[in-house]
Amino acid sequence: MAALDLRNELSRDIIEKMLVCPVCKEGFGVSDDGRSLVCTSGHCFDGGAGGYVSLVRNGGGGDSKEAVRARKSFLGKGYYAPAADALCKIAEELVPSGGLLVDAGCGEGYYSNKLAEQGFLVFGADISKFAADSAAKGARQSRVARNATESSTLFSVASVFDLPLRDGCADCVVNIFAPCCAEEYARVLKRDGVLIVAAAGKDHLLEMKQVIYDDAYLNDTRKDLPTEEYFELCECRNSSFEITATGKEDIESLFSMTPYYWRTSTDGKARLSACDTLRTRVSFDFFIYKRK
Ligand SMILES: C[S@@+](CC[C@H](N)C(=O)[O-])C[C@H]1O[C@@H](n2cnc3c(N)ncnc32)[C@H](O)[C@@H]1O
Ligand SMILES: [Zn+2]
Repeated sequence: MAALDLRNELSRDIIEKMLVCPVCKEGFGVSDDGRSLVCTSGHCFDGGAGGYVSLVRNGGGGDSKEAVRARKSFLGKGYYAPAADALCKIAEELVPSGGLLVDAGCGEGYYSNKLAEQGFLVFGADISKFAADSAAKGARQSRVARNATESSTLFSVASVFDLPLRDGCADCVVNIFAPCCAEEYARVLKRDGVLIVAAAGKDHLLEMKQVIYDDAYLNDTRKDLPTEEYFELCECRNSSFEITATGKEDIESLFSMTPYYWRTSTDGKARLSACDTLRTRVSFDFFIYKRK
């Protein structure tokens, strides 16, 4: 893994147009060796060898190494590719080409990297250093596969509740199954900027729930969707498809990505562990908002 080089042309655009120091809120420059961000007051944030930059004052928290590894393995096999395609289509329709995107709670960067492949510049923020590390590695693999020399992503350890970003800098914020902080997304978005929030559709993973629960229920929609204070809801677009998770490892990875992982009985877990394949519906609701 090559060390992060922040002198790269496209990541410089992200740094200059978007980033502010989390301590003093001043803009950043790049150190001569390309490894660190240094603000005008002299606060220094090392990019290090991981390929991501940590922009939190107190680190820690978010998804564990194991959770990140499981999600990377599952998503990397393309099970959720139709949802990623649907997200990219929404962004292509609504966001100016080459626009600046924030993936808030980006995890291991599966969606960020797909969006970057569509020509967007993407700043990914996740509170988990394991997620940011994995996302940066994925970005590098994607660049190598495309023979791209410039980086159109920058991944960071940062909280969605306190993004190290300028007011009104972003054309779009995407939030895929991560905590939603509407006030902060409103702050960083340009006027008329687009917010895309993904939520589990009512029958998302229904057949998985039928295995683990005696009484499988339909999902309610997420409770933390933005109110009308800052955003106008333009559309809710659903992406539904079926997948067959094949093998115990993929089923376990999928299960560990869900909130049910923490609230399933031993019996329910045992029933799922006995499955060799699992055919289930996947349903993403994309709530599409415009910044007022
Ligand atoms: C369910 S995962 C979704 C990851 C990714 N968006 C995806 O769909 O693959 C939720 C992510 O939110 C991150 N997260 C939780 N709290 C956060 C916070 N306050 N700020 C930034 N990220 C956070 C977790 O570390 C985790 O990677
Ligand atoms: Zn500073």
